[in-house]
Amino acid sequence: MSTSIKKIGVLTSGGDAPGMNAALRAVVRTAAYHNVGCVGIYQGYQGLIDNKVKVMNARSVNNIINKGGTILKSARCLEFRTKEGRKIAFENLQKQGIEALVIIGGDGSFTGALIFQSEFNIPVIGIPGTIDNDIFGTSHTIGFDTALNTVIDAIDKIRDTAISHNRLFFVEVMGRDAGHIALNTGIGAGAEEVLIPEEDMGLDRLLESLKRSEKSGKSSSIVVVAEGDKTGKNVFEIAEYVEKNLPYYDVRVSVLGHMQRGGSPSCFDRVLASRMGVYAVEALLDGQSNMMVGMQGGEMILSPLEKAIKGKSEINKDLIRVSDILTI
Ligand code: F6P
Repeated sequence: MSTSIKKIGVLTSGGDAPGMNAALRAVVRTAAYHNVGCVGIYQGYQGLIDNKVKVMNARSVNNIINKGGTILKSARCLEFRTKEGRKIAFENLQKQGIEALVIIGGDGSFTGALIFQSEFNIPVIGIPGTIDNDIFGTSHTIGFDTALNTVIDAIDKIRDTAISHNRLFFVEVMGRDAGHIALNTGIGAGAEEVLIPEEDMGLDRLLESLKRSEKSGKSSSIVVVAEGDKTGKNVFEIAEYVEKNLPYYDVRVSVLGHMQRGGSPSCFDRVLASRMGVYAVEALLDGQSNMMVGMQGGEMILSPLEKAIKGKSEINKDLIRVSDILTI
């Protein structure tokens, strides 16, 4: 290890995601492994401003690998967007003797980290934690896999009642401006159609497709709608439009909401978070900064935080093709 960093700080910021605790555990224990001090900062950047921190050792993170949420708590901190807020945060870092930061969060959190780094020259490494999987530079973000499993579990249950009542369900899933959750769960749960922000399907095509399904003998259907879908209508308006134009359908809407962010992380997310936590601390100790840990082709990589923020995590077009073929 090439630096003389003696103490690092770690925080979780933005929307929480299952696996954040596993990442925290890995960061704290990797620091301990390399005889570096570690301080947990509560409520994201807010904890830096309020000086709400806790010295952590390998035992502070016992029994959290299986826990959803984040024991450090999370926040979207408006004060950190101001220069004054960041100055207070830096003064607190100095008081605590924290010389580098690991930020577990999404692109908003990384933007804050980059600005902070450029103003106060404190080394930062990002770990992508968000259910949306919308970060450039990694095939998977922490929490995405668990959220997918939560969603298909919910849609499987909705399917039971849809079949019993011969109903058409519109299920809205999270993802902010990205359709990764919708597209993957649409295929995984066998949905009739998937509406995602990346492809403007158009309501007429949706009507045509639903007419075809009805003619082909399907008595119930599921349509997965990404919350950021670009039809210009929300899920309730889409459902109303379909009901008006295809009155033979008995339509219902289900918005899955924040339950998608909770629950015990999947094994995939636990392993991913553990690898990323180890890699992030070792990158800092190797003198890296302004980088994000990611996974590509199953391997850990580093890429500039700036790219992670500005780049777009593209949808896999093959998934669209597969979904189209299988809804025949
Ligand atoms: O970024 C994660 C996410 O859960 C998005 O999918 C969603 O749009 C947003 O956060 C919801 O944020 P909040 O917790 O502020 O309601």
